[in-house]
Amino acid sequence: MTHVAAALSQEAGPIGVFDSGYGGLTILSRIQETLPEYDFVYLGDNARTPYGTRSFEVVYEFTLQAVNKLFEIGCQLIVLACNTASAKALRNIQQKDLPYIDSRRRVLGVIRPTAECIGNITRSRHVGILGTAGTIRSQSYVLEIQKLFPDIQVSGQACPLWVPLVENNEYDSPGANYFVQQYIRNILEKDPHIDTLVLGCTHYPLLLNKIRQYTPQGISIISQGEYVAKSLKDYLHRHPEMDALCTRHGHCRFLTTESEEKFKESASIFLNHPVQVESISLG
Ligand code: DGL
Repeated sequence: MTHVAAALSQEAGPIGVFDSGYGGLTILSRIQETLPEYDFVYLGDNARTPYGTRSFEVVYEFTLQAVNKLFEIGCQLIVLACNTASAKALRNIQQKDLPYIDSRRRVLGVIRPTAECIGNITRSRHVGILGTAGTIRSQSYVLEIQKLFPDIQVSGQACPLWVPLVENNEYDSPGANYFVQQYIRNILEKDPHIDTLVLGCTHYPLLLNKIRQYTPQGISIISQGEYVAKSLKDYLHRHPEMDALCTRHGHCRFLTTESEEKFKESASIFLNHPVQVESISLG
């Protein structure tokens, strides 16, 4: 376990948003729409993406390094805008690491807020989760959804080629069609009664047009950003002590473990505007 050695400041800071790559930008943009006055630091571990195919231990180690980095630069609250990290590292970080690092700081994930919205959306009570191999194998969605809504049947489909398509800017290419169609077909074969498909990976909203094209009408497709943003707003409302530790100047800083040029080019596609970015190393 890598714990921060130096004493951490208790001053207010920006909200940290972390993802293995660019996918978390789909969450960040919805959070910024919902909480425009807050400050954010986005950290993408682009040099080591994808996480989806990595072991539990490695995802935990990388995520903890990222959390420590965001704490060092002054974040009191961090959102893991990555399902894979939320599935494989969040619980350990919350239960084992935070008490040592600083028990007042908080790390939140994206699976719980997504699971909470499902009950009001599905009518057939059959839900499909599309995610990375790691997220699907962890069964985190099945556990979270069934804890809240025991009557809902949950099926999962790993879509290991979707993140590479997005990370390599191929999400709109004709070559992507085959893999989009394939995974949608697989999950609907597993359970033909599914009426709600959850995009359980923050990269997938970039593939939304193609996913819609191959999903039969009448099936709802859930992108997480909106739900995570609402849930964060609600969290800050319920925790005024944490809200007071979040600065508000409407600024956003971007950090990447990859080259600045590469991040700038891809991030502007996700966000529809140019960004300044600093390259950092983790670990
Ligand atoms: N964006 C991450 C998620 O939500 C996964 C990408 C990856 O495999 O690194 O699961």
